Amino acid sequence: MSRTLFQPITLRDLTVRNRVWVPPMCQYMVEKGDGVPTPWHLMHYGSFARGGAGAVIVEATGVTPEGRISPQDLGLWNDAQRDALGGIVDLVHSLGAAIGIQLAHAGRKASTYSEWGNGAPGTSIAVEDDGWQTVGPSATAFGDLAEPLALDEAAIDGVVEAFVASARRAVEAGMDMIEIHGAHGYLIHEFLSPLSNSRTDQYGGSAENRARLLLRIVDAVRAELPEGMPLLVRLSATDWAEGGVQIEDTVQLAGWLREHGVDMVDISSGGNSPDALIPVGPGYQTPLATAVKQGAGIPVSAVGMIDEPRQAEQITATGLADVVLVGREFLRDPSFAIRAALALNVQDAPIPAPYRRAYRQRV
Ligand code: FNR
Repeated sequence: MSRTLFQPITLRDLTVRNRVWVPPMCQYMVEKGDGVPTPWHLMHYGSFARGGAGAVIVEATGVTPEGRISPQDLGLWNDAQRDALGGIVDLVHSLGAAIGIQLAHAGRKASTYSEWGNGAPGTSIAVEDDGWQTVGPSATAFGDLAEPLALDEAAIDGVVEAFVASARRAVEAGMDMIEIHGAHGYLIHEFLSPLSNSRTDQYGGSAENRARLLLRIVDAVRAELPEGMPLLVRLSATDWAEGGVQIEDTVQLAGWLREHGVDMVDISSGGNSPDALIPVGPGYQTPLATAVKQGAGIPVSAVGMIDEPRQAEQITATGLADVVLVGREFLRDPSFAIRAALALNVQDAPIPAPYRRAYRQRV
C-alpha cells in the first residue's frame, strides 16, 4: 500500500524518498575543539540513512567559534570542517537519503559545558577555562549563564556574513539543503523574542525589527544557494511564557519567510525561558506546525515525541504537516524508518539490499 509517509516530497529541485526525516541533534563528539566531525559523526548520520530515513539534518553547527554551544560542537567556518563534512554527505547519499545541515549561532547560550565536558553540564565555561565571551541582542543572561555582550550593528553584519560563508561551504560539501537555526533560545531566537531582546535600534521593538536579523540572514543565504536548493528555518513557535513569542507571531513570521524564499519551516518550541511551562506529551508540537502551515501557507515539518509509525503516518495523511521529524526514537532504533514502512505495509520498504534477507519470513 502506498502510504503518505513513504511518498516522496519535492522542495525546489530536491526530491526526497520519504517524509520520515531525522532532526538535528547535537552529539558533542568533536574531539579536539576544532569543529571537525569525527568517526562518530560518520557512523551516526550513516546509520539513519541505512535505516531508511528520507533525509537527515546534521546537528547545530557553529558558523563561528563563538557560535558553538560547547567546544565539542561541529563548526563550519573553515575548509577542513567542510571537507570532513563532505565525507558524511557522500556516505548518506550512497545510502539513498538526502542530507541537510543546521547552521547555528548559540548567542547567549554559547560557551557551556556539554554533558561530558569538564564541568557541570549546562553551566557557563569561564573565559579563563577556555570558554569565550558570549553575545546576544541585549546584555540579559539566560538563567544562571554568563551575561552576554550586546552585539553592535557592525557585529550583527559579521554574524550575517558568517552564516553566508558557512552556507557556501555547506554547498561545497555537497549538502542538499540548509536549515537556519532560529529556535531554542539561540542567537536568532533571542532577537525574535521580547524576553531576550530589549534593543531600541532597528533590531528591536516591533515584530518587523525583531525579525530583521533572521530575514537578513535568509536573504543573504538564499542569494548564496543554488536556485534549486531548499532553505529551511527552524523556529520555536512559542516561548511557552508570558510576554514571549506566541503562535500568532510565528504564523506572521512564517509568512514573511515564505515571501523571502524559505521552502519549509521546522516547527519546534521553547528554549528561551528557563521558567517556561511546556506541556510535553505525544506529538505536543504538531498543532503548532499545523497552525503555521494553515496560517502562513508554507510547508512545515512537525517534531516532538512522534515515536510511532501510525502516529507519524496520521500526521502526513491528514495534512497536519508535510514532513515528520523523529529524533530520540531514531537514536533508540536507527532502523525506525524501515520498521515504520513494514508496520504500514509499504510495498518498497527502504531496506538496503544486503539486509533484505533479515526481513524475509523464511531464510
Ligand atoms: C536535540 N534537539 C536539537 N534541536 C536543534 O534544533 N538542534 C540541535 O542540534 C539539537 N540537538 C539535540 C540533541 C539531542 C540529543 C536531542 C535529544 C535533541 C531537539 C531535536 O531536534 C528534537 O526537536 C527533539 O528531540 C524533539 O523530538 P523527539 O526527540 O521527541 O523526536
